[in-house]
Amino acid sequence: MDLYEYQAKELFAAHGVPTTPGDTARTVEEAEAIATRLGTAVMVKSQVKTGGRGKAGGVKFAPDAAAAAAKAKDILGLDIKGHVTRTVLVSEAADIAEEYYVSFLLDRANRTFLAMASREGGMEIEELAVERPDALARIPVDALPGVDRAKAAEIADAGKFPAEVRDQVIEILVSLWETFVAEDATLVEVNPLVKTPTGTVLALDGKVSLDENADFRHPGHAAFADTEAENPLEAKAKAKGLNYVKLDGQVGIIGNGAGLVMSTLDVVAYAGENHGGVTPANFLDIGGGASAEVMANGLDIILSDDDVQSVFVNVFGGITACDAVANGIVAALGILGDAATKPLVVRLDGNNVEEGRRILTEAAHPLVTQADTMDEGAEKAAELAHSALSSQTPGA
Ligand SMILES: Nc1ncnc2c1ncn2[C@@H]1O[C@H](COP(=O)(O)OP(=O)(O)OP(=O)(O)O)[C@@H](O)[C@H]1O
Ligand SMILES: [Mg+2]
Repeated sequence: MDLYEYQAKELFAAHGVPTTPGDTARTVEEAEAIATRLGTAVMVKSQVKTGGRGKAGGVKFAPDAAAAAAKAKDILGLDIKGHVTRTVLVSEAADIAEEYYVSFLLDRANRTFLAMASREGGMEIEELAVERPDALARIPVDALPGVDRAKAAEIADAGKFPAEVRDQVIEILVSLWETFVAEDATLVEVNPLVKTPTGTVLALDGKVSLDENADFRHPGHAAFADTEAENPLEAKAKAKGLNYVKLDGQVGIIGNGAGLVMSTLDVVAYAGENHGGVTPANFLDIGGGASAEVMANGLDIILSDDDVQSVFVNVFGGITACDAVANGIVAALGILGDAATKPLVVRLDGNNVEEGRRILTEAAHPLVTQADTMDEGAEKAAELAHSALSSQTPGA
């Protein structure tokens, strides 16, 4: 789960990473009140979960409360790469002498943690990483010793931080690593970390991604969930414990195992090229135990997606054999009753496939077609989705 800047800064504050005081506002009046309360010049900052806010006009300086109100008026509602600003952070403006960059992240490719640091931070960091990679130090971090002062000094020196800020940067790196570990984050990033003209070092921006697999250890993290910006179908799926991601196509997909579902998406997208360009409407992995209830929950989510015109159920029977899955599908259709309205293509293979197919044949549900192979199933599902769309479009 990615956090908003203001949430990232709450975690920073809790672990001793220095930042500027501020608060969030959802209206112009609230923004003005915060600026009045702070009594300083402020930055009004769009809170959206995408990069490049500053360049998109989502980060503005305001010398006083009246200006803060005017900037908040501009930024509230601002669309940044498809993310509409509903909240702004009004934060004390710092004077900036220099901008630096520091982060810790999970480096999956190298199976380690990684520190990145540079004395040349700010909004151009992506270009810096590409054009002058040696200006952005990358230091692997061993999880067990983690980052103590000595390791932090190694990172600060590799990032070529100036001598006068070295001690402060070391303290901040230690606190930032503590944030990373204690909160079970996969990313903590500060860009920019700044030096003020009086020599104080502060985090002016923050990005944190939390590992949702560790949510059980952090009851407090639930408060960070952003139900408003979340897709309602994804929220419903999450509440039922399903691995569902909404996509923008027309063929609903259900499979067991993330790898099988991923390849099903590819095969359906490929088949769709010959059927009006239809593509997958979602990712849904029902996992190992495809019980009737899980299948019903999955079908329910997919069928309540208005974009869906057909559904492809692609299951490889393993520990949960095909007959159990077939019974699950039949029972799920029974549970859903009239709520099930769109054609289903089912491809079963693997353990007990014969029995699974027999169960579906015997049930003879009018919405269900069986396919012998994955390619055939994808082809049929794409064709059904395309013809459903064509019959809805007059003249097509
Ligand atoms: N509190 C602040 N005081 C002074 N200047 C600030 C403050 N916050 C941000 N800035 C300035 O605005 C710039 C952009 O802000 P910030 O880094 O938060 O957004 P961004 O990097 O554009 O957004 P994103 O991180 O989404 O790419 C900073 O590099 C800094 O120069
Ligand atoms: Mg930034």
